[in-house]
Amino acid sequence: MKLRAVIILMMILVMAWWVAPGCERAAGKDTAKNAGGAPKTAMVIPDTAQIPKDKFGEEVRYGRQLLLNTAYYIGPDGVAGHYLGNKMNCTNCHQDAGTKPYSFNLLASHDNYPQYRAREGKILTLAERVNNCIMHPHNGRPLPLDSREMVAILSYLKWINGFVQKGSNFEGRQNLVVGLPVAAASPERGEKIFMESCASCHGKDGAGQLNAEKTTYVYPPLWGMQAYQPGSSMHRIIKMARWLKANMPYNKVALGKPFLTDEQALDVAAFINNDAIHQRPRPKSFEYPEAMLKPIDYDRGPFSDSFSVAQHKYGPFQPIIEWRKAKGMPVDY
Ligand code: HEC
Ligand code: HEC
Repeated sequence: MKLRAVIILMMILVMAWWVAPGCERAAGKDTAKNAGGAPKTAMVIPDTAQIPKDKFGEEVRYGRQLLLNTAYYIGPDGVAGHYLGNKMNCTNCHQDAGTKPYSFNLLASHDNYPQYRAREGKILTLAERVNNCIMHPHNGRPLPLDSREMVAILSYLKWINGFVQKGSNFEGRQNLVVGLPVAAASPERGEKIFMESCASCHGKDGAGQLNAEKTTYVYPPLWGMQAYQPGSSMHRIIKMARWLKANMPYNKVALGKPFLTDEQALDVAAFINNDAIHQRPRPKSFEYPEAMLKPIDYDRGPFSDSFSVAQHKYGPFQPIIEWRKAKGMPVDY
């Protein structure tokens, strides 16, 4: 039986507003390389009522639970094994178990792998890519590739992928774009925004708030030893700002209604990711064996250009982009 997608067709005006003018010039790069310049189609939200009632469906359902309640199953005290180094859940970043538009959406992931990854300098399978998130944002150790949990996560990713047309570029597949200001992002301005709009949930100390049983978070941590590693893509300022714009503050954004301006999103990302004042777990390895392929907002040298660590971290990014383009070098962010 072919799965039927629940497709939300948005009014053209709403679309035009959401993909706001001024963004084109400052676009983030499409990480889904095989979607290239394909025209955008409507958003896709899988309907979980359609998970098949058979053996495969059972694993899909377990996989979905693993994305929603990751810490409960495979966290530091997990009932199915101890793999994560912290008590965050996949859904804290890939919201609605990877199905929310503009929230590191995972609907196309099953089509995207195996894929060459610059960070590791080799081709990764989807299972290895899942393990990357277990090792970096979750600061953990990899799930065995043949474990029931890994197979369930892959089954779930395959099932949600069944709702999208191969290679299509649907709305919300990529996060929102942010314009890149001429000045560097400011951690100082970001601190003010954080205290006003974020601290009420994530805490003034960024440590988040555990649930009553202390098994996972009501509000996940943003820095500290229980938060994501610097090796995680969330540690990159443009990458984070593009997610924040669509998704935070949790209680103030809605689809088509960002709360933070582009500059504010970059500033607050700069504050959260300022390693001079915020501690994080240390990554176990240094990555990007080819300096040339580092994203421009990756803050660890050596670099293949002469811009400083501070400029790679906080910008201004436009001069880096232009310099690299002029030299015919890749520009990823
Ligand atoms: C009303 C409470 C609330 C406010 C205010 C809020 N958040 Fe969140 N935030 C959440 C929740 C809840 C999640 C997890 C979302 C989920 O699981 O679906 C989250 C997740 C996150 C994440 C990803 C997970 C992680 O911990 O790394 C980041 C980053 C983040 N918020 C940053 C911010 C920033 C920056 C602001 C202010 C601009 C903000 N949040 C304001 C509730 C809030
Ligand atoms: C702190 C935030 C965070 C958490 C928690 C997290 N991820 Fe990720 N994940 C990311 C970011 C950022 C990316 C990179 C997305 C991009 O490059 O656009 C990513 C990428 C991925 C990808 C590759 C997507 C693609 O199509 O290329 C998969 C698959 C994935 N994550 C699965 C998971 C799973 C499963 C979990 C839980 C075990 C998890 N992630 C937890 C932030 C997170």
